Amino acid sequence: MCGIVGYVGGRSALEVVVAGLRRLEYRGYDSAGVALVADGKLATRKRAGKLANLEAALEEAPMPPSTTGIGHTRWATHGAPNDRNAHPHLDDTGSVAVIHNGIIENFAALRAELEARGHELVSETDTEVVAHLLADEFEPAGSDLAEALRRVCGRLQGAFTLVVSHASVPDVVVAARRNSPLVVGRGEGENFLASDVAAFIAHTRNAVEVSDGQVVELRPDSITITDFDGVEATPHEYHVDWDAAAAEKGGYPYFMLKEIAEQPKAVADTLLGRLQGGSLSLDEVRISDDDLRQVDKVIVIACGTSYHAGLIAKYAIEHWTRVPVEVEVASEFRYRDPIVDRDTLVVAISQSGESMDTLMAVRHARKQKARVVAITNSNGSTIARESDAVLYTHAGPEVGVAATKTFITQVVACYLLGLFLARTRGTMYDDEVRSVVRELSDMPEHIDTVLDTVEPVRELARSLAGARAVLFLGRHVGYPVALEGALKLKELAYMHAEAFAAGELKHGPIALIEDGLPVVVVVPSPRGRSVLHDKIVSNIQEVRARGARTIVIAEEGDEAVVPYADTVIRVPQTSTLLAPLVSTIPLQVFACELALAKGLDVDQPRNLAKSVTVE
Ligand code: F6R
Repeated sequence: MCGIVGYVGGRSALEVVVAGLRRLEYRGYDSAGVALVADGKLATRKRAGKLANLEAALEEAPMPPSTTGIGHTRWATHGAPNDRNAHPHLDDTGSVAVIHNGIIENFAALRAELEARGHELVSETDTEVVAHLLADEFEPAGSDLAEALRRVCGRLQGAFTLVVSHASVPDVVVAARRNSPLVVGRGEGENFLASDVAAFIAHTRNAVEVSDGQVVELRPDSITITDFDGVEATPHEYHVDWDAAAAEKGGYPYFMLKEIAEQPKAVADTLLGRLQGGSLSLDEVRISDDDLRQVDKVIVIACGTSYHAGLIAKYAIEHWTRVPVEVEVASEFRYRDPIVDRDTLVVAISQSGESMDTLMAVRHARKQKARVVAITNSNGSTIARESDAVLYTHAGPEVGVAATKTFITQVVACYLLGLFLARTRGTMYDDEVRSVVRELSDMPEHIDTVLDTVEPVRELARSLAGARAVLFLGRHVGYPVALEGALKLKELAYMHAEAFAAGELKHGPIALIEDGLPVVVVVPSPRGRSVLHDKIVSNIQEVRARGARTIVIAEEGDEAVVPYADTVIRVPQTSTLLAPLVSTIPLQVFACELALAKGLDVDQPRNLAKSVTVE
């Protein structure tokens, strides 16, 4: 949520910062702004709306040359998304510029205090108080901007990444973080900071972690990190394993289309090095075998699409390990006094590794002594660092706001974890594990097949662009797939979309069925659990009898659905538990294409952000 960029070095700071913001725009696109230090003064520009509005304003009124700058792309929390509330925010003298991601919870009290001292605040944001507090602290701190920021951080409640520059200190940008993302990029004679490495990956792949409760001072030739008390910390540096090309559209008109197409490779990359000679190797699960054998309950915590990956995981992990699995929306977890102890294994799924709801749930679980395994796509993210072990999904950067390849690879990572647990606990024989492993390694090819045959789904989606609502039904692992299909359609096409466990239909939702209502049904394989299959075929008949237009996702060779389906979408044959890896793909394409047919921006749907760093 909110994208942040800072730069000090030898180049045009404006160019570096705006290019960085372009890569971070997926984090928020309500408004954008920049501040530069030039000739002992601050110059700023900010505009409501997408980055393009700011770029147009910069064309109209160019900014002075500068090699020190900060920039922000906003997802509004406090105050409407207009020019005035856009970041950066300045103090009354125009000397301090601040950009912020997060929420300052005590801003009202701080604002009242500042106004009583004669400060004039002009925006409705929580951020602006920080600029005024910093102006007051700068002189007493001996004009040391990092020291002034440390003093101010001590007064702030809530979550924040703050990035600051000051008119009288050229070649310096300082930043602080508490429960909100921030990473530094180390260059040659230049340094960068941002909410995400994507912002500076075109310039350097050397990243430096900034931990919670730290302040960083960036100069062209130095990076100094301290805690909020000024005690210097040893920086932890790492190399980013993807390059700028991975964060480009690569000829596709939208990132989402590219990311859907990348799924076979993403799955292959998730499996890479983990399936060796037909068996499974998960060295990164650094929890002892004894501890894993002690586990008496697994709790999966996640939000949104990641939660749907968790629901699929439940079916697989319970089946393979015989350990009960609960799946909980992360934002509910810590507020219900959950039963968690040292024998609980918590699996936290988050593509960004920064969702505040999930992070808070992880902290709660660890306080109760549970072991936490994170599944994330984001190297060095907060959830990864605060967990006992991490399974990275290695899907590469996902820029489209709607999760696609990160979802599919989360599901793969959950399967791997389930198999690993089952093998460690002795609930599956080696050859049983090997047989699932073999099937997993065929999945990239199966997903490729779905993508090659998906054109009819596109046509169908275009023909339904005028529909008022779409229902999704599924049973077993097909139910979370249906939930994911409905979520994709809501967020991309702004359409009323609901998913139900098909068996629940008769308990109420069937009243929604009316003439012509599109109902998408995810059908399980007739080969595995044929009872399930028979039941869902009856459900298809029930909705069709009431006028629904039935769209059925069924595996190759399943002829039993044909008489009751207005449209059949075929997916390759797989085992029941692994079917979500193929059956989700047409639903992603369906939602994406339907949104495009409505003329919507699938990469940046309204009101959303890729990384949700507020509760
Ligand atoms: C939907 C989507 C969101 C995220 C949710 C959790 O396409 O992307 O529902 O899944 O905000 O985000 P992470 O996985 O980053 O914790």
